Amino acid sequence: RKILVINGPNLNILGKRQVNIYGNESLPQIINSLKNIAEKKEFIIKDFQSNIEGNIISFLNEEFLDSFSQADVKNSSVLSCAKLSKIAGIIINPAGYSHTSVAIRDALEVFSEENIPIFEVHLSNIFSREEFRHNSFVSPIATGVISGLGSFGYTAALHKIIELA
Ligand code: DQA
Repeated sequence: RKILVINGPNLNILGKRQVNIYGNESLPQIINSLKNIAEKKEFIIKDFQSNIEGNIISFLNEEFLDSFSQADVKNSSVLSCAKLSKIAGIIINPAGYSHTSVAIRDALEVFSEENIPIFEVHLSNIFSREEFRHNSFVSPIATGVISGLGSFGYTAALHKIIELA
């Protein structure tokens, strides 16, 4: 099964961007170590990064339609769709869009309604920073939120998704 790892704006420059806040690992390094863990457990990581809100939404929409059209063929009931979905879970760092985007939350909510676990990850502790970072539109529909553990947040989320699968 597949695990989606989605990263929002400015995370493409991780490793160079405000290293005191976000660490010196690059996004490809983080994704590679997730892939190594997933592979051993026979999961596939599909990763996506974009600086453009609409592209993140389109990616989620396509994954949603793909996952459920497959499930529908086998069985039409919603409950079994969740079980048959090819997606075991979603790890997302919506970055700056966490604090602004109703639309990304809406695109994610369709997965949480199908009981697909969603983990929101922030490298930094958003609550120890500026007040505008304290609210995330995504958090209320997430299965869990990890903030301030650096790249280990992604690893922890991955282990949890594998455990839940
Ligand atoms: C971030 C925190 C956000 O507030 C910020 O806009 C980011 C990264 C984090 O990983 O700590 O771009 O999501």
